[in-house]
Amino acid sequence: MSKIAVAVLNRKGGVGKTTIAVILAQIALVRHNKVLAVDIDPSGNFSDALGFMKNYFKDSLRIKNTLEDSDADAQEEWIVIDCPPNLDEDSQHAIKFADVVVVPVRSDFFSLSNLGILYSTAKKLERKAGQLPLVKIGYDNSAMSKIANQIISERDYTVAEELPLHKRIPFNIASGIVWSTGLTAVSRKPYERLFGKIVKAVEKMSSGAEEAEIKNIWSAVKKEEETENADI
Ligand SMILES: Nc1ncnc2c1ncn2[C@@H]1O[C@H](COP(=O)(O)OP(=O)(O)OP(=O)(O)O)[C@@H](O)[C@H]1O
Ligand SMILES: [Mg+2]
Repeated sequence: MSKIAVAVLNRKGGVGKTTIAVILAQIALVRHNKVLAVDIDPSGNFSDALGFMKNYFKDSLRIKNTLEDSDADAQEEWIVIDCPPNLDEDSQHAIKFADVVVVPVRSDFFSLSNLGILYSTAKKLERKAGQLPLVKIGYDNSAMSKIANQIISERDYTVAEELPLHKRIPFNIASGIVWSTGLTAVSRKPYERLFGKIVKAVEKMSSGAEEAEIKNIWSAVKKEEETENADI
């Protein structure tokens, strides 16, 4: 498997960036991949959560709080970068460094109104729109979610995955045991699916996929999974 660098970023705070970063790192570790976790948010939530996890994955987890270009040569298979809620220099470095930037969005105006500047910044940094797929969190049948869905489809944003709102995450994230006890098998599924899609997308990108192809990767992968599920 080639190396995968994934960042989690939205300029809006409190949308679930760190939670996704923690769970992606945990999935990689459980699958016996080595992980370099880079916490560039001064709040330190990511390193705190992973600090607990370090007790279980002593040799396969490394945690640092600055991102350096030389990290591209790190021995770990996964580099997971948790970003602060801004587009400052460090966040821009993460956008430029990562193969994929996961963008969590709640169904509120503030999560969505920030996306224009995120994508224009990413474009300036020569990233393709398909490298920054959205992950929708807590979308339901409410009027707000319907409006948010309309905005997402009108602006033609790529959506990689939809995550439900969990009741237990806030209690378990702090102890870094989300993966083992905080989420039921059913709740874990969308995070595992997101993880699998990132792996496939990066594989396709490294085989030199064109921009249009990259933008289609997430939905193409989704179709593959729907077909797989239909077979079960
Ligand atoms: N899928 C989810 N269901 C329910 N609660 C969630 C979910 N994801 C995250 N949360 C909760 O939402 C809150 C904010 O999550 P988190 O800290 O991951 O966001 P963030 O975007 O990293 O915030 P910040 O911008 O401050 O770094 C936390 O209490 C977290 O436990
Ligand atoms: Mg955070």
